[in-house]
Amino acid sequence: MIKSPLNYTGNKSRLLDQLFPLFPQKIDKFVDMCCGGASVGLNANAKYVVCFDSNSKVVELLQTLRFLSEKKIVDKVEGFINYFNLSDTFNKGYDVYRKYIQGNNGLKEFNAEGYSKLRSFYNQKSLNTKRDKAVCLFTLLVFCFNNDLRFNSCGQFNMPVGKIDFNESIRKKLTSFKYGTKNKDIDFIQNDFKILKELELHRNDFVYIDPPYLITNAVYNESGSKWDDFKEKELLEVLSYLDDNGIRFALSNVLRKGDKENIILSSWVKKNKFNTHYINYHYRSSSYNKKDRATPEEEVLITNYNV
Ligand SMILES: C[S@@+](CC[C@H](N)C(=O)[O-])C[C@H]1O[C@@H](n2cnc3c(N)ncnc32)[C@H](O)[C@@H]1O
Repeated sequence: MIKSPLNYTGNKSRLLDQLFPLFPQKIDKFVDMCCGGASVGLNANAKYVVCFDSNSKVVELLQTLRFLSEKKIVDKVEGFINYFNLSDTFNKGYDVYRKYIQGNNGLKEFNAEGYSKLRSFYNQKSLNTKRDKAVCLFTLLVFCFNNDLRFNSCGQFNMPVGKIDFNESIRKKLTSFKYGTKNKDIDFIQNDFKILKELELHRNDFVYIDPPYLITNAVYNESGSKWDDFKEKELLEVLSYLDDNGIRFALSNVLRKGDKENIILSSWVKKNKFNTHYINYHYRSSSYNKKDRATPEEEVLITNYNV
Protein backbone atom coordinates (compact mmCIF):
# COMPACT_ATOMS: atom_id res chain seq x y z
CA MET A 1 0.00 0.00 0.00
CA ILE A 2 1.25 3.45 -0.89
CA LYS A 3 1.05 5.78 2.08
CA SER A 4 0.37 9.48 1.94
CA PRO A 5 2.81 11.65 3.91
CA LEU A 6 -0.09 14.02 4.67
CA ASN A 7 -1.58 12.35 7.71
CA TYR A 8 -4.94 13.67 6.62
CA THR A 9 -7.89 13.79 9.02
CA GLY A 10 -10.42 11.16 7.99
CA ASN A 11 -7.99 9.59 5.54
CA LYS A 12 -9.04 6.26 4.12
CA SER A 13 -5.73 4.39 4.38
CA ARG A 14 -6.99 1.87 6.93
CA LEU A 15 -10.24 1.29 5.05
CA LEU A 16 -8.74 0.55 1.65
CA ASP A 17 -8.99 -3.21 2.01
CA GLN A 18 -12.73 -2.81 2.63
CA LEU A 19 -13.24 -0.22 -0.14
CA PHE A 20 -11.24 -1.63 -3.05
CA PRO A 21 -13.19 -4.94 -3.30
CA LEU A 22 -16.30 -2.77 -3.75
CA PHE A 23 -14.80 -0.85 -6.70
CA PRO A 24 -15.09 -2.03 -10.32
CA GLN A 25 -12.32 -4.38 -11.54
CA LYS A 26 -11.31 -2.69 -14.76
CA ILE A 27 -11.00 1.06 -14.69
CA ASP A 28 -9.55 3.31 -17.38
CA LYS A 29 -9.75 6.67 -15.62
CA PHE A 30 -10.07 6.73 -11.82
CA VAL A 31 -11.25 10.05 -10.39
CA ASP A 32 -10.48 10.58 -6.70
CA MET A 33 -12.74 13.54 -5.93
CA CYS A 34 -12.23 15.43 -2.63
CA CYS A 35 -8.93 13.53 -2.48
CA GLY A 36 -7.41 15.08 0.68
CA GLY A 37 -4.11 13.25 1.23
CA ALA A 38 -4.95 11.09 -1.84
CA SER A 39 -4.70 7.81 0.06
CA VAL A 40 -7.31 6.30 -2.28
CA GLY A 41 -6.07 7.64 -5.63
CA LEU A 42 -2.47 6.69 -4.82
CA ASN A 43 -3.51 3.06 -4.49
CA ALA A 44 -6.07 2.92 -7.29
CA ASN A 45 -5.55 0.34 -9.98
CA ALA A 46 -6.35 2.16 -13.21
CA LYS A 47 -4.70 3.32 -16.43
CA TYR A 48 -4.89 6.94 -15.29
CA VAL A 49 -5.69 8.48 -11.92
CA VAL A 50 -6.74 12.08 -11.37
CA CYS A 51 -7.10 13.46 -7.85
CA PHE A 52 -9.10 16.64 -7.23
CA ASP A 53 -9.50 18.74 -4.12
CA SER A 54 -10.86 22.25 -3.72
CA ASN A 55 -8.13 23.12 -1.20
CA SER A 56 -5.34 24.74 -3.23
CA LYS A 57 -2.80 24.28 -0.41
CA VAL A 58 -3.37 20.53 -0.25
CA VAL A 59 -3.06 20.20 -3.99
CA GLU A 60 0.12 22.31 -4.15
CA LEU A 61 1.56 20.14 -1.41
CA LEU A 62 0.82 16.93 -3.29
CA GLN A 63 2.14 18.40 -6.55
CA THR A 64 5.36 19.55 -4.87
CA LEU A 65 5.99 16.27 -3.07
CA ARG A 66 5.61 14.59 -6.39
CA PHE A 67 7.73 17.07 -8.35
CA LEU A 68 10.79 17.38 -6.07
CA SER A 69 13.18 14.49 -5.48
CA GLU A 70 12.97 12.80 -2.09
CA LYS A 71 16.47 14.05 -1.25
CA LYS A 72 15.53 17.61 -2.08
CA ILE A 73 12.41 17.45 0.11
CA VAL A 74 14.33 15.93 3.03
CA ASP A 75 17.13 18.51 2.65
CA LYS A 76 14.66 21.38 2.63
CA VAL A 77 12.70 20.06 5.63
CA GLU A 78 15.95 19.50 7.55
CA GLY A 79 16.99 23.03 6.56
CA PHE A 80 13.85 24.42 8.27
CA ILE A 81 14.43 22.12 11.27
CA ASN A 82 17.99 23.40 11.77
CA TYR A 83 17.19 27.05 11.12
CA PHE A 84 14.25 27.11 13.55
CA ASN A 85 15.95 24.85 16.10
CA LEU A 86 13.30 22.16 15.99
CA SER A 87 13.86 18.64 17.30
CA ASP A 88 15.47 16.07 15.03
CA THR A 89 15.07 12.68 16.71
CA PHE A 90 15.76 10.86 13.44
CA ASN A 91 19.33 12.17 13.18
CA LYS A 92 20.10 12.98 16.82
CA GLY A 93 18.16 10.28 18.70
CA TYR A 94 15.44 10.76 21.33
CA ASP A 95 17.72 10.91 24.40
CA VAL A 96 18.93 14.44 23.63
CA TYR A 97 15.34 15.65 24.14
CA ARG A 98 14.27 13.58 27.17
CA LYS A 99 14.86 16.33 29.69
CA TYR A 100 12.35 18.57 27.85
CA ILE A 101 9.57 15.97 27.82
CA GLN A 102 6.76 16.50 30.32
CA GLY A 103 4.04 13.89 30.87
CA ASN A 104 2.79 12.61 27.53
CA ASN A 105 3.42 15.86 25.69
CA GLY A 106 6.19 14.35 23.60
CA LEU A 107 8.32 17.00 21.91
CA LYS A 108 5.76 19.77 22.34
CA GLU A 109 7.69 21.80 24.94
CA PHE A 110 10.95 21.58 23.06
CA ASN A 111 9.43 22.62 19.75
CA ALA A 112 6.99 25.31 20.95
CA GLU A 113 9.20 28.32 20.26
CA GLY A 114 10.81 27.16 17.01
CA TYR A 115 7.45 25.99 15.67
CA SER A 116 5.83 29.34 16.42
CA LYS A 117 8.65 31.12 14.55
CA LEU A 118 8.37 28.75 11.60
CA ARG A 119 4.61 29.34 11.46
CA SER A 120 5.05 33.13 11.47
CA PHE A 121 7.74 32.79 8.81
CA TYR A 122 5.29 30.84 6.63
CA ASN A 123 2.36 33.18 7.31
CA GLN A 124 4.45 36.29 6.55
CA LYS A 125 4.95 34.85 3.07
CA SER A 126 8.72 35.06 3.42
CA LEU A 127 9.35 32.44 0.75
CA ASN A 128 9.48 33.18 -2.95
CA THR A 129 8.83 29.97 -4.80
CA LYS A 130 5.66 27.92 -4.54
CA ARG A 131 7.79 24.76 -4.06
CA ASP A 132 9.55 26.26 -1.02
CA LYS A 133 6.23 27.43 0.38
CA ALA A 134 4.78 23.96 -0.03
CA VAL A 135 7.76 22.27 1.69
CA CYS A 136 7.54 24.83 4.50
CA LEU A 137 3.86 23.95 4.91
CA PHE A 138 4.76 20.26 4.85
CA THR A 139 7.24 20.91 7.70
CA LEU A 140 4.51 22.70 9.67
CA LEU A 141 2.18 19.80 9.05
CA VAL A 142 4.75 17.36 10.40
CA PHE A 143 5.30 19.37 13.59
CA CYS A 144 1.74 20.57 14.26
CA PHE A 145 -0.97 19.11 16.46
CA ASN A 146 -2.60 16.03 14.88
CA ASN A 147 -0.90 16.82 11.54
CA ASP A 148 -4.04 18.79 10.68
CA LEU A 149 -4.12 21.36 7.92
CA ARG A 150 -6.16 24.35 9.09
CA PHE A 151 -6.17 28.00 8.01
CA ASN A 152 -8.04 30.93 9.54
CA SER A 153 -10.31 33.19 7.49
CA CYS A 154 -7.31 35.40 6.53
CA GLY A 155 -5.58 32.36 5.04
CA GLN A 156 -3.06 31.99 7.88
CA PHE A 157 -2.02 28.53 9.01
CA ASN A 158 -3.16 28.34 12.63
CA MET A 159 -2.57 24.87 14.04
CA PRO A 160 -0.71 24.73 17.38
CA VAL A 161 2.48 22.72 17.90
CA GLY A 162 2.22 18.92 18.20
CA LYS A 163 4.13 16.13 19.91
CA ILE A 164 6.19 14.60 17.13
CA ASP A 165 8.84 15.55 14.59
CA PHE A 166 10.16 14.44 11.20
CA ASN A 167 10.53 10.89 12.47
CA GLU A 168 11.14 7.56 10.77
CA SER A 169 7.46 6.86 10.26
CA ILE A 170 6.80 10.11 8.33
CA ARG A 171 10.01 9.66 6.31
CA LYS A 172 8.85 6.16 5.36
CA LYS A 173 5.51 7.55 4.19
CA LEU A 174 7.36 10.09 2.07
CA THR A 175 9.48 7.30 0.53
CA SER A 176 6.30 5.32 -0.10
CA PHE A 177 4.63 8.32 -1.78
CA LYS A 178 7.69 8.93 -4.01
CA TYR A 179 7.80 5.26 -4.97
CA GLY A 180 4.04 5.13 -5.60
CA THR A 181 3.92 8.20 -7.83
CA LYS A 182 7.12 7.49 -9.77
CA ASN A 183 5.71 5.21 -12.44
CA LYS A 184 2.06 6.05 -12.03
CA ASP A 185 0.05 8.14 -14.45
CA ILE A 186 -1.45 10.38 -11.78
CA ASP A 187 -2.34 14.07 -11.55
CA PHE A 188 -3.30 16.31 -8.65
CA ILE A 189 -5.61 19.14 -9.64
CA GLN A 190 -7.31 21.87 -7.66
CA ASN A 191 -11.01 22.01 -8.43
CA ASP A 192 -14.48 21.81 -6.98
CA PHE A 193 -16.64 18.68 -7.29
CA LYS A 194 -18.80 20.50 -9.87
CA ILE A 195 -16.00 19.86 -12.40
CA LEU A 196 -17.33 16.27 -12.57
CA LYS A 197 -20.04 17.49 -14.95
CA GLU A 198 -17.43 18.85 -17.33
CA LEU A 199 -14.96 15.97 -17.38
CA GLU A 200 -14.94 13.69 -20.35
CA LEU A 201 -15.92 10.42 -18.70
CA HIS A 202 -16.69 7.10 -20.35
CA ARG A 203 -18.25 3.77 -19.42
CA ASN A 204 -14.99 2.29 -18.09
CA ASP A 205 -14.16 5.31 -15.97
CA PHE A 206 -14.95 5.50 -12.30
CA VAL A 207 -15.48 8.28 -9.78
CA TYR A 208 -14.76 7.86 -6.07
CA ILE A 209 -15.91 10.74 -3.87
CA ASP A 210 -14.99 11.30 -0.24
CA PRO A 211 -16.49 14.69 0.67
CA PRO A 212 -16.61 16.26 4.13
CA TYR A 213 -19.38 14.49 6.04
CA LEU A 214 -22.41 16.59 6.88
CA ILE A 215 -22.90 15.10 10.35
CA THR A 216 -19.32 14.72 11.59
CA ASN A 217 -16.71 17.27 12.58
CA ALA A 218 -13.34 17.62 10.90
CA VAL A 219 -11.12 20.66 10.50
CA TYR A 220 -11.91 21.01 6.78
CA ASN A 221 -15.59 21.28 7.84
CA GLU A 222 -14.90 24.22 10.10
CA SER A 223 -12.72 26.62 8.16
CA GLY A 224 -13.42 28.70 5.06
CA SER A 225 -16.19 27.21 3.00
CA LYS A 226 -18.20 25.15 5.44
CA TRP A 227 -19.84 21.96 4.20
CA ASP A 228 -23.58 22.39 4.68
CA ASP A 229 -26.98 21.12 3.45
CA PHE A 230 -26.68 23.23 0.31
CA LYS A 231 -23.32 21.71 -0.68
CA GLU A 232 -24.53 18.22 0.17
CA LYS A 233 -27.51 18.67 -2.18
CA GLU A 234 -25.33 20.16 -4.90
CA LEU A 235 -22.97 17.18 -4.71
CA LEU A 236 -25.82 14.67 -4.84
CA GLU A 237 -27.24 16.47 -7.87
CA VAL A 238 -23.85 16.10 -9.62
CA LEU A 239 -23.77 12.39 -8.74
CA SER A 240 -27.29 11.94 -10.12
CA TYR A 241 -26.02 13.57 -13.31
CA LEU A 242 -23.19 11.00 -13.50
CA ASP A 243 -25.69 8.21 -12.95
CA ASP A 244 -27.95 9.53 -15.73
CA ASN A 245 -24.93 9.45 -18.03
CA GLY A 246 -23.96 5.86 -17.20
CA ILE A 247 -20.86 6.73 -15.16
CA ARG A 248 -20.16 4.51 -12.14
CA PHE A 249 -19.49 6.20 -8.83
CA ALA A 250 -18.88 5.28 -5.19
CA LEU A 251 -19.51 7.79 -2.44
CA SER A 252 -18.05 7.48 1.07
CA ASN A 253 -20.10 8.98 3.86
CA VAL A 254 -21.56 8.65 7.32
CA LEU A 255 -25.32 8.03 7.35
CA ARG A 256 -25.80 8.08 11.13
CA LYS A 257 -23.74 9.22 14.06
CA GLY A 258 -25.18 8.84 17.54
CA ASP A 259 -28.69 10.30 17.25
CA LYS A 260 -27.92 12.32 14.11
CA GLU A 261 -28.93 11.10 10.66
CA ASN A 262 -28.00 12.49 7.26
CA ILE A 263 -31.56 12.56 5.98
CA ILE A 264 -30.66 14.35 2.73
CA LEU A 265 -28.36 11.47 1.85
CA SER A 266 -30.55 8.61 3.06
CA SER A 267 -33.61 9.90 1.13
CA TRP A 268 -31.54 10.36 -2.04
CA VAL A 269 -30.16 6.80 -1.77
CA LYS A 270 -33.67 5.41 -1.26
CA LYS A 271 -35.24 7.43 -4.05
CA ASN A 272 -32.57 6.36 -6.56
CA LYS A 273 -32.34 2.75 -5.31
CA PHE A 274 -28.55 3.01 -4.96
CA ASN A 275 -26.61 0.36 -3.05
CA THR A 276 -25.41 0.88 0.51
CA HIS A 277 -22.34 -1.04 1.75
CA TYR A 278 -21.52 -0.83 5.43
CA ILE A 279 -17.89 -0.15 6.37
CA ASN A 280 -16.30 -1.13 9.65
CA TYR A 281 -15.11 2.31 10.66
CA HIS A 282 -13.20 1.11 13.75
CA TYR A 283 -10.28 0.46 11.41
CA ARG A 284 -10.24 4.02 10.21
CA SER A 285 -7.01 5.87 10.83
CA SER A 286 -8.23 9.08 12.25
CA SER A 287 -7.30 12.09 14.23
CA TYR A 288 -10.88 12.78 15.22
CA ASN A 289 -10.97 13.67 18.88
CA LYS A 290 -11.74 10.99 21.47
CA LYS A 291 -15.33 12.12 22.11
CA ASP A 292 -16.03 12.00 18.39
CA ARG A 293 -14.52 8.55 18.04
CA ALA A 294 -16.54 7.12 20.93
CA THR A 295 -19.93 7.96 19.34
CA PRO A 296 -21.10 5.04 17.20
CA GLU A 297 -21.46 5.88 13.54
CA GLU A 298 -22.64 4.21 10.37
CA GLU A 299 -19.95 4.65 7.75
CA VAL A 300 -21.07 3.61 4.30
CA LEU A 301 -20.06 3.38 0.68
CA ILE A 302 -22.93 4.22 -1.69
CA THR A 303 -22.59 2.81 -5.19
CA ASN A 304 -24.75 3.24 -8.30
CA TYR A 305 -23.67 -0.22 -9.56
CA ASN A 306 -23.98 -3.75 -8.19
CA VAL A 307 -20.85 -5.22 -6.67
C1 LIG B 1 -12.93 13.37 3.99
S1 LIG B 1 -11.68 14.45 3.31
C2 LIG B 1 -10.95 13.41 2.11
C3 LIG B 1 -9.97 12.41 2.68
C4 LIG B 1 -9.27 11.60 1.64
N1 LIG B 1 -10.15 10.64 0.99
C5 LIG B 1 -8.04 10.87 2.20
O1 LIG B 1 -8.02 9.64 2.20
O2 LIG B 1 -7.11 11.56 2.64
C6 LIG B 1 -12.65 15.60 2.40
C7 LIG B 1 -11.91 16.51 1.44
O3 LIG B 1 -12.88 17.23 0.67
C8 LIG B 1 -12.30 18.47 0.28
N2 LIG B 1 -13.38 19.36 -0.17
C9 LIG B 1 -14.20 20.15 0.58
N3 LIG B 1 -15.06 20.80 -0.21
C10 LIG B 1 -14.80 20.44 -1.49
C11 LIG B 1 -15.37 20.78 -2.75
N4 LIG B 1 -16.37 21.65 -2.85
N5 LIG B 1 -14.86 20.23 -3.90
C12 LIG B 1 -13.81 19.35 -3.81
N6 LIG B 1 -13.22 18.99 -2.62
C13 LIG B 1 -13.73 19.51 -1.48
C14 LIG B 1 -11.59 18.93 1.54
O4 LIG B 1 -10.60 19.88 1.22
C15 LIG B 1 -11.02 17.59 2.07
O5 LIG B 1 -9.71 17.43 1.61
